[in-house]
Amino acid sequence: MSGGDAADFAAFERRGWAARSTTYGEGFGAMTAGVHPALLDAVGAAPGTRLLEVGCGTGRLAALALERGAEVTATDAVPEMVRAAAAALPGARVEQAALPGLPYPDGRFDAVVGAFVINHVPDPPAAAADLHRVLAPGGRLALSCWDALAANRAQGLVFDAVRAVGGPAPTGLPGAPFTRYASPEGLGALLGAAGFTGVRVERARWRHRVEPAAWWRHVLGGTVLTAALIEGRPAEEVARIRAEYLRLAAPYTADGLPVAALVATGARG
Ligand SMILES: C[S@@+](CC[C@H](N)C(=O)[O-])C[C@H]1O[C@@H](n2cnc3c(N)ncnc32)[C@H](O)[C@@H]1O
Repeated sequence: MSGGDAADFAAFERRGWAARSTTYGEGFGAMTAGVHPALLDAVGAAPGTRLLEVGCGTGRLAALALERGAEVTATDAVPEMVRAAAAALPGARVEQAALPGLPYPDGRFDAVVGAFVINHVPDPPAAAADLHRVLAPGGRLALSCWDALAANRAQGLVFDAVRAVGGPAPTGLPGAPFTRYASPEGLGALLGAAGFTGVRVERARWRHRVEPAAWWRHVLGGTVLTAALIEGRPAEEVARIRAEYLRLAAPYTADGLPVAALVATGARG
C-alpha cells in the first residue's frame, strides 16, 4: 500500500468511527467485550500495572482494567471516541493517539492491550513497531483481531447475505491493509518482525446473544468497512440483504451468534 493509499484508508476509518461514537458502545461493543478479560489476563493487568489501551472506542476494556487496579491510559485515534470514553470513565486518563505515531516515550508502559484495532490501522508493521517501542523491557502486549468468517458467524452471516444477494460492490472503498496478517501465522509474523519475543496466537470463541434485527443495526452502527459495503448499495438491494441475513440468523436466536477472534500475545525482550 502506498503512502497516499494509507492516508486515504486512515481518513476513511476515522470518518467512519467518528460517525459511530454514539452507537458503537451498546451495540457492537457489547459483543467485542467478550474478549476483553482474556486480553487483560494475558498482560497480567494488576494493581499498579502501567497499562496503555490503543483503539479504546467507548471505553469498556479500560473500565475493566481500572477495576483490576491498573494505571490506565486509554487512547483512540478519533476525538469523538475519546470524548465518549472519557464520559464513561470519569477521572481516568483518556487521550487522543493514533497507531502508528503514539505520542509516548520509549518504554513508558508495562502492558499494552488493543481489542480489534490492529485490523483498522493504515500501516500494521509500523503500528506493531510502535507498540513494541512504548513497552518497557519485559512488558507484555495482547492484541485481538477477527478470526475467519467461517468461524466468526456474527459477522460471517452478514457477508453471506451480501454474497447471496449479489450485485456489484460499492465503488471507491479502500482495501484493508491488515488483510494479509489476518491469520494466526500472519499475525504472529507481524509481531515477530516488530521485535516481540515469545509470540503466541490463540483462538478465542464466545457467543453473543442478541435479537437478529438488533444485531443488524449494531453491525451498521458499529463497523466501518462492513457497513460501507452494505450502505453503499441501492435501498432495494439493502432490503434484500437484510431479509437474507434475518433468515440466516434466525437459528442462532436461542444460543447466540458464534464469535471467533485471534488473540496474539508477546513481550518486549
Ligand atoms: C472496532 S473498534 C474497537 C473498540 C474497542 N477496542 C472494543 O474492543 O470494542 C476500533 C476502534 O479503533 C479506533 N481506531 C481506528 N483506527 C485507529 C488507529 N489508527 N489508531 C488508534 N485507534 C484507531 C476506532 O476509532 C475505534 O474506536
